[in-house]
Amino acid sequence: MRFSRAIKIAPSILSADFANFGAECRAIEAQGADWVHVDVMDGHFVPNLTFGPATCAAIRPHIRGVMDVHLMISPVDAFLESYAKAGADVISAHVEAGPHVHRTMQAIRALGCKAGLCLNPGTGIEAVEYLLDMVDLVNVMTVNPGFGGQKLIHSQIEKVRRLRAMIGDRPIHIEVDGGVTLDTAPLVVAAGADVLVAGSAVFKGGSVDNPAPYGANIAALRAVAEAARH
Ligand code: DX5
Ligand code: ZN
Repeated sequence: MRFSRAIKIAPSILSADFANFGAECRAIEAQGADWVHVDVMDGHFVPNLTFGPATCAAIRPHIRGVMDVHLMISPVDAFLESYAKAGADVISAHVEAGPHVHRTMQAIRALGCKAGLCLNPGTGIEAVEYLLDMVDLVNVMTVNPGFGGQKLIHSQIEKVRRLRAMIGDRPIHIEVDGGVTLDTAPLVVAAGADVLVAGSAVFKGGSVDNPAPYGANIAALRAVAEAARH
């Protein structure tokens, strides 16, 4: 994974057809997705439960590009190896998931994956300050984790701006996750985000049998995001 701050659209399969994950991953990549965002939820760290390592392993062969695994689970350390073995390229864990986040980032990198740190809306960027040499990505949650289709929490835009300043020219992606739409994508990109996770905004209007809307939605998000860069 060569580092680039070019805009990346990362559809979240939380909004996909749960009966057809493989076909949905193939469809969104064929329609222009840069990364595939995989929302793992345990029903404990967040009030929702999705899927685990076996599902990640099952969809891996259907993803040609980056499999971006977002672990909304606690505890997290004991499960890292199973997601690395499932084929994750990026494993992101929440700073709020446990007491030893530096060790968690070390463990993710030791498994050969890119390390992502997720910040819930109430967590400040000081959580990243002593981890800047340990992470490859910071996921700024712009909704409270657990569900798709929520509204972006606008206070997080200033957090993205401050985080971008803190990161400087380090090869660290800023991913924004939750409530990314045609209206909000320009705001978070202008603040410094380069990876845009979008579930409902990408999957709306389409299906495995009718994936064209996925492509139109991705292209529209990319257009407003690129425009916000200039
Ligand atoms: C929420 C997940 C997000 C969510 C995004 O806990 O982490 O990735 O699926 O969905 P939308 O884009 O619909 O807000
Ligand atoms: Zn996510």
